[in-house]
Amino acid sequence: MLDDRLQAVADFVPPASSVADIGTDHAYLAIELYKANNDRLVIAADLNEGPCQAARRTIADAGLNGEIEVRQGDGLAALKPGEVETVCIAGMGGKLEADILAAQPQVVEQLKCLVLQPQNGFEYLRQWLYDHKWHIEDETLAKVDGRVYQIIRAVPGETAPLTEPELILGPVLIKKRPLLFKDHVENNLEQLEKIRQGLKKGGEQTRGKLAETEARIKLLEGYLK
Ligand SMILES: C[S@@+](CC[C@H](N)C(=O)[O-])C[C@H]1O[C@@H](n2cnc3c(N)ncnc32)[C@H](O)[C@@H]1O
Repeated sequence: MLDDRLQAVADFVPPASSVADIGTDHAYLAIELYKANNDRLVIAADLNEGPCQAARRTIADAGLNGEIEVRQGDGLAALKPGEVETVCIAGMGGKLEADILAAQPQVVEQLKCLVLQPQNGFEYLRQWLYDHKWHIEDETLAKVDGRVYQIIRAVPGETAPLTEPELILGPVLIKKRPLLFKDHVENNLEQLEKIRQGLKKGGEQTRGKLAETEARIKLLEGYLK
């Protein structure tokens, strides 16, 4: 059984869609996606040999040998353009997820859906999606061991420019205010507070960045109400 984070990623994948799990590690997500619809193509890909071996082992243990293909490769270079409709990238930094997408435009331009779960760098990733004409269609939150995770589903399309709070907290999450929204804002504020404490030690050199961080803290605090 998946934890709430990976289950939320799985739930965001359109049920009939062919799918690749990039950075699959143990292939837990890929197996769940196959079980949810065993008619579709599911590819599990990872950059590193160890995770690919782990993925093959989990797939074999689940009795799914030959049903889910494991490929070793860097990001979307493991895929041919048009091979799958949906790509999931979970558990990596938001910048790395954006860099993985940016590296293979010929694959990305044929995708119909992205399901992303960044660990950090939310602002960077959402800005990348906006800049590359991916519309954030839905967002959700999942909590595991006290940490709140953001899951984003994007589809090709234009959107109005995202504001600073929307880039950090998520445009759909701000609108929908799901149950975990307050925890989500608090998690972001905790991270900013750590940054603020570090910057306070930097003296004159970090004064500008400190002021920026404090302004951002004020901005996000407004979303606790
Ligand atoms: C922290 S694990 C996340 C595993 C799983 N997706 C999850 O969310 O639980 C990150 C995985 O991404 C893989 N990875 C890192 N950079 C990658 C890249 N450029 N292309 C494909 N896989 C990558 C790592 O080898 C590792 O297995």
